This record gives sequence, structure tokens and C-alpha cells, in this order.
Amino acid sequence: MRVPLIAGNWKMNTTVSEATELVNEMRPGLDEIANVDKVICPPFISLAKVRELIKGSSIKLGAQNLYFEEKGAYTGEISPLMLAALCEFVIIGHSERRQYFRETGEIVNKKVQAALRAKLKPILCIGERLEENEAGRTEEVVAEQLRSSLAGIDFLGGLIIAYEPIWAIGTGKAATGRQANETIGFIRQNIAKLYNEDIAQEMRILYGGSVTADNAAEFINQPEIDGALVGGASLKATQFLSIVTQTSEIKQAR
Ligand code: 13P
Repeated sequence: MRVPLIAGNWKMNTTVSEATELVNEMRPGLDEIANVDKVICPPFISLAKVRELIKGSSIKLGAQNLYFEEKGAYTGEISPLMLAALCEFVIIGHSERRQYFRETGEIVNKKVQAALRAKLKPILCIGERLEENEAGRTEEVVAEQLRSSLAGIDFLGGLIIAYEPIWAIGTGKAATGRQANETIGFIRQNIAKLYNEDIAQEMRILYGGSVTADNAAEFINQPEIDGALVGGASLKATQFLSIVTQTSEIKQAR
């Protein structure tokens, strides 16, 4: 049985004091829920503070990006070793990074390798653009993203995949549960081909893209979907808590 996981990607939102306020609002409720992994991914500058605030709770911490070198003259970048001292997870290959910061499959691959070397658990994001979806190319696109992101990687060390169709991110136009389940099932089959059936069955694959407290159950109810990567709704304590609570209830009922 795969433990469900709900991760909040705060993106470029919250000052340190706003992050503090948000964590303090979420912590008591989140901490009570035992059968779901709860991960929050604040901006880099708040990681150390949030780490302190969640100490002793069951809430886990993730970063939103990293650079693939360990240290050196890379002004403005953050290394896997710096993150490994602070958090357990790191989002890699988010479509916003691919789009605005020109991250290619090759860069994403280097980042995944660097994260795994530092014993960080990557949350690898993949997903197709609207035109690709409309042209019926979703499977081809996600298969290629998987192939390039995971090239040369034998040991996946708790890697998580987030399927985030780009047309569903921040648009309020989520995929349907059925659509997301189908593509995630396809991703799982691909992992079985690239690795083996056991690894595929153990791997947690999340859906992301306009997940809210109102539609979360539709995704969590699907057999292939192991949780969600939540953007906007993770910035509201009540919404995020409701998504985690619903996940817990649905998975408990199984
Ligand atoms: P939204 O939930 O705001 O659509 O963002 C999804 C996302 O990109 C999470 O990584």
C-alpha cells in the first residue's frame, strides 16, 4: 500500500513572517492526521524558519528547486547539500521552471541525480501543454519527459512523480479525475518498463493542477492517484487542511 502524500507548493509566495503565520495556522490540524504524508514547500528563505516551526510534528519539509552542483561560484543558486541539511523533499522540473527558466530535460536529469546523491527525495514534475493535449500527444510527451528526466538513474530513492498538465496549473480548469487517473496509470506502466513492476507499484504518483478542497476527492478517489501537488490552495490553511483531511478519510475507507 502506497502512503498518500499531499504536498503544498507555495511557489514565490510568502515573506518569512507570512510563512510563519501560515505554518502556525496549519500545524495543529495537519499534525493530527497520521495516515497521509504532508509536505510543505515554502520559498528557500523560509526553509530554516519553517523547519523550526514544524519540529516535533509529523509535517515534512520540501524545497521548490535546487542547482545540481554541490558548491562553488554559482551566484544565487542553492545546492543539494544545503537543502539536505534542512529538508527531505525537493520539487524538480516544475513546468514554471521549464517555461520561464528554460530548464531542459537534461538539466532536470542532472538535478534529479544531484538530489538523489544528497539523499533528498525528488518530486519530479511532468505534464503536457494544452496544444499537446489537444493533439492527443499527452502520452508521448510524458513518456519522453520520464525518459529524459530519469536517464542513467538506477536508484530512485523514494522519488515521487507529480503529473501536472500545464493547462490545468493556476487556471482553475483541473483535469477530470478520470483523465488524470488514465495518464497516471500510463506513467506507472512506463516506470515498470524503465525499471520493474515492483518499483512501479511502490512509486507514489501525484496529480497537480487547480486542486482545491472542492475537487480533491475526485482525484484521491482514483486508484492510480496517490495524492496531490497543490499550488494556490496550499496557501490557505483551511483549504490545505481540508484536502489532507479528505485524503485521509478516503484512503482509510479503502
Ligand atoms: P495550482 O494548484 O495553483 O493550479 O498549481 C499547481 C502546481 O503547479 C503545483 O505545483
